[in-house]
Amino acid sequence: MYETLKRDLLRGLSGTVLEIGAGAGANLGLLNPGAEWIGLEPDRRVHDRLRVNAVRHDRKARILDAPAEAIPLGDESVDAVVSTVVLCSVDDQEAALAEVARVLRPGGRFVFFEHVAAPAGTPTRWLQRIWAPFSRRFDRGCDPVRDTAAAIRRAAFAQVETRDFDMPVGLGLTVPFIAGYARR
Ligand SMILES: C[S@@+](CC[C@H](N)C(=O)[O-])C[C@H]1O[C@@H](n2cnc3c(N)ncnc32)[C@H](O)[C@@H]1O
Repeated sequence: MYETLKRDLLRGLSGTVLEIGAGAGANLGLLNPGAEWIGLEPDRRVHDRLRVNAVRHDRKARILDAPAEAIPLGDESVDAVVSTVVLCSVDDQEAALAEVARVLRPGGRFVFFEHVAAPAGTPTRWLQRIWAPFSRRFDRGCDPVRDTAAAIRRAAFAQVETRDFDMPVGLGLTVPFIAGYARR
């Protein structure tokens, strides 16, 4: 179901699609084959895998070695931006979202699929708070207690459509996620 939700959000994107925090390229097979993909990934250790996966999916391997807080592209230069499980890890969410809005053409879409903080006072939020120092230190800076939906709403987008859901992660536990898009 979750992969289908992500696929539904991604497959409609066309033109130039910038993926921030592309990792090893897990989304390459979900994107419209006609889209021109650019992968932004500051972790050079995954660039080789990302390049191989791009070629495997018949895409030009255009990889930007930069953080989302400083996207090396011009204003209004891409048709869509994709972020899946990245806004939990960026150093500065506000700066990254401002950059996403800057590079998007007017009317372009920012598609997101992100894990977020559970509501205050819930057992899941309590567990997230306990886990946060470890994930920040050992899981690429991942901060599980970010209110990413609020950050997206505060950024310079004209319209935000988002859906909340809980993703099962084993041992009967779930992690709260948001998925949707924001229009520039
Ligand atoms: C959990 S991985 C997700 C990778 C991929 N998006 C996926 O869904 O499989 C988080 C990714 O965000 C990247 N990342 C961390 N900080 C970043 C930043 N400031 N700007 C862009 N990407 C960043 C990491 O290097 C990593 O590849």
